[in-house]
Amino acid sequence: MKIVYTDNNATTKVADEVIEEMLPYLGELYGNPSSMHTFGDKVDRKIKEARQRVADFINADPDEIVFTSCGTESDNAAIYSAINAFPEKKHIITSNVEHPAINNLYQHLQKTKGYEITFVPVDKKGLLDLDALYDSMSDNTAIISLMRANNETGVLFPIELIAKKANEKGILFHTDAVQAAGKIAIDVKKMGVDMLSLSGHKIHAPKGIGVLYVKKGFKFSPFLIGGHQEQGRRGGTENTVSIIGMGKACELARENLTIMDTKVRELRDYLQIQLLEKIPGASINGDLELRLPNTLSIGFDAVEGESILLLLDREGICASSGSACTSGSLDPSHVLMAMKVPFKSAHGSIRFSLSHYNTKDEMDIITNTLVPAIQKLRDMSPFWKDGKVI
Ligand SMILES: Cc1ncc(COP(=O)(O)O)c(C=O)c1O
Repeated sequence: MKIVYTDNNATTKVADEVIEEMLPYLGELYGNPSSMHTFGDKVDRKIKEARQRVADFINADPDEIVFTSCGTESDNAAIYSAINAFPEKKHIITSNVEHPAINNLYQHLQKTKGYEITFVPVDKKGLLDLDALYDSMSDNTAIISLMRANNETGVLFPIELIAKKANEKGILFHTDAVQAAGKIAIDVKKMGVDMLSLSGHKIHAPKGIGVLYVKKGFKFSPFLIGGHQEQGRRGGTENTVSIIGMGKACELARENLTIMDTKVRELRDYLQIQLLEKIPGASINGDLELRLPNTLSIGFDAVEGESILLLLDREGICASSGSACTSGSLDPSHVLMAMKVPFKSAHGSIRFSLSHYNTKDEMDIITNTLVPAIQKLRDMSPFWKDGKVI
């Protein structure tokens, strides 16, 4: 069966060019980049190239790039470093729609170390309450950490604006750009952030490689204490193959940004229009403008998201209900709940997240599968009668 893959916010296909770039280092070029011999040095030089490519992707300097094992590690390292740098400050500001990669860390810090965490609310469109955010800033704030783009709805937060306020008040600022990377341009200098997280598997690199950008001048303390690797900022022999893959993926992502903003956006909008036209009782979750170009979170009244996913899966269509990481629970995701999406559509919400590998034919396959699938589920639903919710 042909797979129609529209779950790119969960993970992406590793690009052929990335595999090609990595293969020699998985095979014959296995040297340790820290070794003194020429054989190891060959790998070291390739890592330098990868570091430069990542730096170019986000407009950073190569020595501001720290390779980690994933987005989660980058997020954790950023927060721990901030609280180590300012041990006397016991307050952290974030939003109530962050990814569990960082959200669960806040709950942990709250419970075990007595940190006060301000979870700034969002409105119905998923947009941040900026007044509440600014009001919560204080001399006791160790760090503000906010995602650039939401993984479920694609809604964007105005990081540049908020980082400016944080800088004026001398508060450290981190952004989780794991979902934004490769979909919209990332420029750390323009954004004015102190730290920024990336994850390889969201941008067509392998799973198990992440990046933390650390602005020059910040007294970063390592999360993994060990050898001298990454200039003492992350111990452990480098994941050379994946670092090399990450470098290539960043180069490709930079080249593909225009395609994201044109072809992928058009495909997403085409799918959105088709579904809204052909399925009654459907609504989009999140702001229509301030949103990633590849993401469509759409709720269907009076049906269960999991049931929709099963029917899509039978036709080889991969999508997600809420966040892939939180599926398994039947409650609507914390993001949709924070947005106060009505229960009738939050329960039937599906996320389609596209990449440049998708085609218009695939969007038609999705529509032609979903229309009868939703009808079938509503025919069985006690909450749907005569074309509307009862
Ligand atoms: C916004 C966001 N941050 C962090 C992560 C975690 O990244 P990783 O899977 O590389 O740990 C994800 C993964 O879904 C994400 O969407």
